[in-house]
Amino acid sequence: MDKVRINLYDLLACISNAQDLVSTKLSNHQQQVAYLAFRLSESLNLPIEQQHEVFLASLIHDTGALSTKEKLELIETEPVNANDHALRGAKLFEGFKPLQSSAGIIKYHHIPWNDGDGNTYMGEEVPLASHIIHLADRTCALINPDRNIITQVPDILSKIRQQANSVFRSDLVDVLFDISIMDYIWLDLISPNPAKKVPNTGLFNTLTLEIDDIVDLALIFSRIIDFRSCFTARHSAGVAKTAEKLAQLIGFSPYECKMMLIAGYLHDLGKIALSDDVLEKPTKLNEDEFNEMRTHTFYTFHALEPIKQLRTINTWASFHHEKLDGKGYPFHIAGDSLSIGSRIMAVADVFTAVTENRPYRKGMIFDDAEKVLRNMVASNALDGRIVNLLIENYQELDNMREISQIEAAEQYENFLRIG
Ligand SMILES: [Fe+2]
Ligand SMILES: [Fe+2]
Ligand SMILES: [Fe+2]
Repeated sequence: MDKVRINLYDLLACISNAQDLVSTKLSNHQQQVAYLAFRLSESLNLPIEQQHEVFLASLIHDTGALSTKEKLELIETEPVNANDHALRGAKLFEGFKPLQSSAGIIKYHHIPWNDGDGNTYMGEEVPLASHIIHLADRTCALINPDRNIITQVPDILSKIRQQANSVFRSDLVDVLFDISIMDYIWLDLISPNPAKKVPNTGLFNTLTLEIDDIVDLALIFSRIIDFRSCFTARHSAGVAKTAEKLAQLIGFSPYECKMMLIAGYLHDLGKIALSDDVLEKPTKLNEDEFNEMRTHTFYTFHALEPIKQLRTINTWASFHHEKLDGKGYPFHIAGDSLSIGSRIMAVADVFTAVTENRPYRKGMIFDDAEKVLRNMVASNALDGRIVNLLIENYQELDNMREISQIEAAEQYENFLRIG
């Protein structure tokens, strides 16, 4: 495998869908906005590439709002600080070339039209696509999931009309009115997966990515996963570097080591779907909370599953809580069925989890970490050969882990400063 061809829609859907899972109250918000923004740009007769661009940017438009609380606030009202999450979202994606234009669109999706002044913001041009998303976003936010959708259309439209010119471009509001007579658009919007109702997403831009590009992208995803909370802000970076080094020590090829790095960045992807409370609880989780926590590997697996090109990486990432004795979760894969890659990830995850500092406790010193790892080998949870390798190279691995986590912490501070 030299270069990997991946459909851009598949790639973004995997993170977008996981984000929308965080609360049923979100009603697939990003997918809804993506669907409506697409219908608006289609009706505007924008060139097909631009229609795709609007759709893709909408799919990830609220990525910068990492906590459930912030996400829910954004669909309830349009808070005065709405721009912050837009800037953060742009910041996350702009470093990855194929997503630079999406980043530019996301950045300004809450700029009011202000009778035309909203054409620019701080000297920069605000793309038409940003105004389309703004209108689609607010329209979707007005939908009450408990009422019949068609009955509420006049109400929604009248609220939007009141803000034409001040908040929304009036030409876009006109287009919304034009398409609003189509019942199917509203019915599509409230369907379980509205983004899937957009035709031909399989024909969207397909990226040809080198393995290093996928590393860059996975790093961005790891920040979206980890930066949700100061408790997890540095975790995936440590796991990824540890797993990569262990893979090298065990004799994986340089290419496979990079795959392992990618898997490490993605291993907790499903944590995007966890509630803030579970993610941030410093004390022991109760049974319900623990069961919710356990779902994260299930979601990691299903988020990555549509991307067939990442199948091996997915198994290395998603099976990190499986145990050799078959008592892990969620698939209860045991013994020989658990690949070396998945076993490495399990060791890297436990090692990083016990040695990293968290806001509420210090990481373990060598003796204690060794004890935890050895006990897990004794109970046939972790692979003894991999744990031995780790212990033999402990200092080097621990330094690498720590350096990568200090870097991640700096990135997190940077991220918080935006807005
Ligand atoms: Fe939104
Ligand atoms: Fe995990
Ligand atoms: Fe983890």
